[in-house]
Amino acid sequence: PKKLRVAMMGLGVVGGGVFRRVAAHADQFEIVKIMVRSPEKYIDQGYKPEILTTEFDDLLAAKPDIFIDVSGGVEPALAHSKVMLARGIHVVSANKQAIAAGGQDLMDFAVDHNAQLRFSSAAGGGMPVLEMCLREKGRITRVQALLNGTTNYMLDEIGKGRRYAEALKDAQDKGFAEADPTADVGGADAGAKIRLIAMLGFGETIGLDDIPLDSIADFNPETPAKGAWKRISTLWRDKNGFSSALELKDLSKNNFLAQADGEEAHAVFDFDDGDQYRIRGKGAGRWPTTESVMADLFDISATTLT
Ligand code: HSE
Repeated sequence: PKKLRVAMMGLGVVGGGVFRRVAAHADQFEIVKIMVRSPEKYIDQGYKPEILTTEFDDLLAAKPDIFIDVSGGVEPALAHSKVMLARGIHVVSANKQAIAAGGQDLMDFAVDHNAQLRFSSAAGGGMPVLEMCLREKGRITRVQALLNGTTNYMLDEIGKGRRYAEALKDAQDKGFAEADPTADVGGADAGAKIRLIAMLGFGETIGLDDIPLDSIADFNPETPAKGAWKRISTLWRDKNGFSSALELKDLSKNNFLAQADGEEAHAVFDFDDGDQYRIRGKGAGRWPTTESVMADLFDISATTLT
């Protein structure tokens, strides 16, 4: 059978995980080129020089069937994904900023060019929050979720009496935090994921500025939580229209969202018929996120190979 040729952009915490997992399926996939900023760094880590490039044109020249965006930031990622889709190359994106900013446009573009676009890892890591949105769109009235692994973990540790700075360092060591962790503690990371859920679950396009974001920077509470500190992302639609917020709350211990321990994420979906659906899973970190990228890759492989 034909192997699918894979080009990647980015080789960070998630990218490195994806490389290893894809390489373990050498019967199905071949990684043909990886675009990075500083190849030397990766050559030192043992990557073959000929597989690395700093030029996007080299990715195109390698004639990939699938492009995996495991980079960060909106541009050039969005423009590159668009060029790939325009050539009928399928795109798997773990880049939540890029998808939050231009995902709707990119989805339409993919359809127009007979290519597939998947980004199940862009929010929730191993928790299928975006899959739920896609499946249940139209009947969702409210979503409440823990969408940032870094702060989930930190708030739990702070609740156990640790100091903020120490908890942040631990979250970084565990590979949860972004390269610049102010996106995690300040709320922009959760904000990007709220925008993705708004788009897929509610059909709403919102800007980051439309979402009130509670920062937890330097959160060293004097008094312990009555229940548990959780920073909840909420999106809802009622008679006043659509709204969303990111808020730090002291939740009662028997609340489902309060029962997520540090590394876990929980989400609750409410539907217009009164039904409620609860999901949980590892929300951040190299391997849970990598597994979501792999699931997208296998989905594409299943629909393209004959
Ligand atoms: N920095 C993110 C988090 C990584 O802590 O949730 C997963 O998107």
